[in-house]
Amino acid sequence: MEPWVEAWTRSANTFYSGEWPADHFATAPSHSTAVAEGLVHHLTHVVEHLHDGGYFGVIDVWEVGGGDGTLMAQVLALAGQQHPTVTFRARVIELRPRPSHLASTIEWIHGPVDTHLPESIRGLIFAHEVLDDVPLTLAQYDESFTLRQVMVNPATGDEELGAPISANDGEWVSRWWPHQSVGGRVEIGAARDQVWAVIASSVSTGIAIAIDYAHTREQRSLGAFAPGTLTGFRHGYPCQPVPDGSMNITAHVALDACAVAAEQACAPLPVTTVLVSQRDALGVLGRSATPQSPHEALVAIAQHSQRELARDTQGFGAFTWLIHHIGMGR
Ligand SMILES: C[S@@+](CC[C@H](N)C(=O)[O-])C[C@H]1O[C@@H](n2cnc3c(N)ncnc32)[C@H](O)[C@@H]1O
Repeated sequence: MEPWVEAWTRSANTFYSGEWPADHFATAPSHSTAVAEGLVHHLTHVVEHLHDGGYFGVIDVWEVGGGDGTLMAQVLALAGQQHPTVTFRARVIELRPRPSHLASTIEWIHGPVDTHLPESIRGLIFAHEVLDDVPLTLAQYDESFTLRQVMVNPATGDEELGAPISANDGEWVSRWWPHQSVGGRVEIGAARDQVWAVIASSVSTGIAIAIDYAHTREQRSLGAFAPGTLTGFRHGYPCQPVPDGSMNITAHVALDACAVAAEQACAPLPVTTVLVSQRDALGVLGRSATPQSPHEALVAIAQHSQRELARDTQGFGAFTWLIHHIGMGR
C-alpha cells in the first residue's frame, strides 16, 4: 500500500508515455472546433489590447497538455483566418512526444509544464482537461472524524486508510473543502493550485484559461462531492481507478482554489478572474454571416450544431472555464 498521490503520479507517467489519450477517452476537440472558437474569441481580446497599446509584434499562443495537438491546430487555423496580418507563435508543452502528423508551425516542448514555461508570455495560454489529470492527495474521514490519507495497492486498486493528512493539506481542506462526514472523501487540490499558478504567472500581458470539470466551494461544503470523483478511463469506458499505468485517472478540479492561487502568483500584475460554465463561455460567440450559397448554409448549420453539442449541459457544456486577464488593466 502507498499514498494515492504517489501511485497516481507513477501511473500517469507510465500511461502518458505509452498510451494515446484518444484511445481511452474523447475530449471536446475530437468532436468539434467549438472550444477552439471560444479560445480564439479570447485571443482576439489580447490582440486588440496589444494593438491598442502600440504592440504589433509576434503574439504567443501556448497550450499545456496538448494531447495529440488537435486543439492547438484548430486554434491556430481559426486565429490565422480571423487575424491574417498577425504572426502567432504556437507552442505546446506535453508529457508525450511530438505527434508525427503535427504541422511544423507548432513547436512541441516535450516534458512537464513546470520546467518549461517562460515568464513573459504575451498572448494566450490554455490548458484543456489537464488539471484533472494532475495527481492529488486523496483523504477520507475515519469514524472519529480524523481526515486520513487514502492508501492504495497499485496493482489492484484496493484501499485502506493511512496516517492523518499533513498540516499543509489540513490548511487547504479547511479553506476549500469544509464538509465533514464519516467516510466522506476529500480530494486535496493543492498540487493543482500550484500547477495552475505556475501556468498563469507565465503571462506578462494576456489571458490564461483552464477548462475542466470542476466544482465550487459551495457545492463541496454541501457534501455534494463527499463520495469523491476519482475515476479511471480505459478504452472509452469509466472503470475502477487502479494506478497501474494502464488507464487515465482523473478527478474533478477545485478551479476556484486554482483561481486564488494564480491571482497570488501573478501579483503585482493586475488580474481579473471569471469562472463560467462552458455553456455560457461559448454562448457569447457570434453567429456567422448570412450564408450566400447552399454550401455556406450547410457549413453554418454544422458549426451551429457543433457549438450546441459543446454547450450541452449533460455533456461538455457542464465544464467550467477559468479565465484570467493578466497585466491587461482592470
Ligand atoms: C486529458 S489529456 C487532454 C489533451 C488535450 N488537451 C485535449 O483536450 O484533447 C491531458 C494531457 O495532459 C498532458 N499532461 C498531464 N500532465 C502534464 C504536465 N504536468 N505537463 C505537461 N503535460 C501534461 C497529458 O500527457 C495528456 O496528453
